[in-house]
Amino acid sequence: MYSSTQIIIKYFRYYFKALNGKGHGIHSPFVYEWVDKIQNDKTHYEEYHKIESQRSNLLKNKNVIEVRDFGAGSTQMKSSSRKISDIARNSLKSPKYGQLLFRIVRRFKPRIIFDLGTSLGITTAYLASANPGAKIITFEGADEVAGIAKDQFGKLSLNNIVLVPGNMDQTLGKMVSETDIIDFAFIDGNHRKEAVLSYFNLLMEKCGPASIIVLDDIHWSREMEEAWVNIKGDGRVKFTIDLFFIGIVFFREEFLVKQDFVIRF
Ligand SMILES: C[S@@+](CC[C@H](N)C(=O)[O-])C[C@H]1O[C@@H](n2cnc3c(N)ncnc32)[C@H](O)[C@@H]1O
Repeated sequence: MYSSTQIIIKYFRYYFKALNGKGHGIHSPFVYEWVDKIQNDKTHYEEYHKIESQRSNLLKNKNVIEVRDFGAGSTQMKSSSRKISDIARNSLKSPKYGQLLFRIVRRFKPRIIFDLGTSLGITTAYLASANPGAKIITFEGADEVAGIAKDQFGKLSLNNIVLVPGNMDQTLGKMVSETDIIDFAFIDGNHRKEAVLSYFNLLMEKCGPASIIVLDDIHWSREMEEAWVNIKGDGRVKFTIDLFFIGIVFFREEFLVKQDFVIRF
């Protein structure tokens, strides 16, 4: 993992290199609409409030649970006993990114969503509430963490989520083989290059031209940056958007030549 100073320097480089987040200079109608209608949609959807009040409760919860450490990604906390509040503070996507994922799902209405790394279920809740008609298949290996995520889904009355327990290295392949299509996936589990690439390749088996894959923390470590470079260079990928803290991969034929956009968010 890069140090905080390295991340700050990288962020500034990204910020000055990125296309401005108002859509100026973006010639592709699809990407312009992406920025205008998804990134810059400032509507305060009522689901935001419901999910964020669950996050607030988790942030106040000092109960200690046993957490199985799956390696890269759990850098802040090495011990196997953790306060729920610490997990809520250190491991979850912030409201800004959870709500962006909500808007992506709300707009494209994917029917089958794979969510790799449930943790306490906050981002999963954003994905599930954005399209109640979708089926969300979410993966979490730490049993007690998964139990708390399930509680959150109950409290939010979300009935369209299937939580797959166990190590994704073993469970993902089976779930991919049992689905006809993966319309949308969010990869936020094991932050090792090999794991990310192997999950990406598995998911790709069931992706179609309209599918979207979002990767978390693409600039978090050298390994994650290498994985991102690999994915951008994959012949099946048609174009990508780098928002620094997440990367978005598209398979639709939009451009004559492959394009990799870096956009401020
Ligand atoms: C960064 S957290 C996910 C946060 C969540 N996406 C959110 O924003 O609310 C990563 C989660 O993935 C789980 N995880 C990591 N590697 C895993 C593996 N190989 N199998 C199953 N779960 C794993 C961890 O236990 C952890 O809860």
